[in-house]
Amino acid sequence: MNILADNGAAIAQALRDIHHHASRAPSTGKVADYIPALARVEASHCGLALATLDGEVQAAGDAERPFSIQSISKVFGLVLAMQRVGDDLWQRVGMEPSGQPFNSIVQLEWEHGIPRNPFINAGAILVSDTLVSHFSSSRQAFLSFVRRLSASECCDVNEAVLASEARHGSRNAALAHLMKSFGNLEAEVEDVLAHYFFQCSLEMSCSELARSLLFLANRGVHPLSGEQVTTARDAHRVNAILSTSGMYDQSGQFAFSVGLPAKSGVGGGIVAIVPGQGVITAWSPPLNRHGNSTRGLAMITELAGRLGLSIY
Ligand code: DON
Repeated sequence: MNILADNGAAIAQALRDIHHHASRAPSTGKVADYIPALARVEASHCGLALATLDGEVQAAGDAERPFSIQSISKVFGLVLAMQRVGDDLWQRVGMEPSGQPFNSIVQLEWEHGIPRNPFINAGAILVSDTLVSHFSSSRQAFLSFVRRLSASECCDVNEAVLASEARHGSRNAALAHLMKSFGNLEAEVEDVLAHYFFQCSLEMSCSELARSLLFLANRGVHPLSGEQVTTARDAHRVNAILSTSGMYDQSGQFAFSVGLPAKSGVGGGIVAIVPGQGVITAWSPPLNRHGNSTRGLAMITELAGRLGLSIY
């Protein structure tokens, strides 16, 4: 049964209630400050959006305000690389949960420069390498891809965040150099990092994000344009890795309590795919110790629980 399509008014009410409750609850997290430009965001922002396969977007709170999508960009990067590189990609990056913080270095050394999965930093840097190697301008290709999926020409990079990422990116540079030393990076480290920082610095709203990822809920076909963005098999694969590795080292707990493929970012955004039905996006900047938005988690957990959306 398509729960989301069949209960429009009840769902709009649930979104409003859940947002109302979450945005007034005491905040327990801390806004990311390891990249100074991220720390400037107002901690009280709170948005929730739900896009369904018929193209409807229901929203509450700050759902139209662009925010730094950070690691959610890893989903777009992966899909674009899968389109370009095909199955060869999986020779260079794994599909297992890492159980480590997203920017951990030790595991990469032990595992000979092959990142555990595309959603930890090393994996996304590897994916960035394939984009830099396969497009004449990977940044332009990435931006056009996201704009097409979200049907919005407004999505753009925040230049202050981009400069701050680059200035405070030593750990990411270490990961890239380590992969280069193992022969698992083709392009120049500098170019790969420039792409990676660019995609992390993109800003989108909850509504834009929810709309843009609808193809993952629809076996690879974007329901708004009819474009086959990825094959059904690859949509399945992306959702599988989102389920095991999309919420950093809290992915197991998220599967346990929510049961949806999802990706978070340190800008406070979380997207959750409801296969066959739609996409939920939540945004609130304060993060828990894993790097996941505390209010975002609360809102998605409540919505998925109330509507019975778990895939398990
Ligand atoms: O690589 C960084 O430092 C951040 N820009 C990554 C963003 C993020 O959300 C955490 N990643 N997995």
